[in-house]
Parts: sequence; structure tokens; C-alpha cells
Amino acid sequence: MSETLYVRVAALSDLEEDTPKRVEIDGVPVSLVRTEGEVFAINDICSHANVSLSEGEVEDCAIECWLHGSSFDLRTGKPSGLPATRPVPVYPVKIEGDDVLVSVTQES
Ligand code: FES
Repeated sequence: MSETLYVRVAALSDLEEDTPKRVEIDGVPVSLVRTEGEVFAINDICSHANVSLSEGEVEDCAIECWLHGSSFDLRTGKPSGLPATRPVPVYPVKIEGDDVLVSVTQES
């Protein structure tokens, strides 16, 4: 059983609404997205090809891959349309004061 270990990755006040921020946690590239009053953490690599999702647009609680246009739900990581068919891992986020903490040891 793996322990859920949260790591501070950013200050909440540094995250702009609907502007993804790429961070690395234990070598895992993660895109942090503040949208609709919440912060989400999704693996930064598209499941279709090696493309950084944090360079895409955020809309309706999803992040769009700029290369071929698949959108991934920030809550579940599931793609809403082709060409991607596989979900991208999403990770649990905790907010403590102005600290944004993410755990990559456990996918949510
Ligand atoms: S690389 Fe992301 S949809 Fe093709």
C-alpha cells in the first residue's frame, strides 16, 4: 500500500485562473490548473503523443491538447474526443492557506 505524500508545488496566489502551470514532482511532469474555484493537477503529457498539455487551453474544466485537439477532463483525466483514447493520470490536490500541495504517489 503506498502512502499519500503531498508536496508543496506552488503558491495559490501565483496561479492564474485558466492558465496552466507546469511543475515537476519527483520527476513527474504535472500541469496545475486553477479554474472554476478549484485547483487540479493532471499529468502534463498527452496520452496520444509526447506533447505538453500545459501549453493548451483550459475550458469547461478540461484542458485541450494543442496538437490534435483532444480535451481531457481535469477531474478524471478522461479524453472527451479523438484522437486520444486513453486517460491522463490526475492527482489529488490539497490547499493549505496559500500553499498548493499535490500527491503523485497516488492517482485519484
Ligand atoms: S498529441 Fe495530444 S491529441 Fe494528439
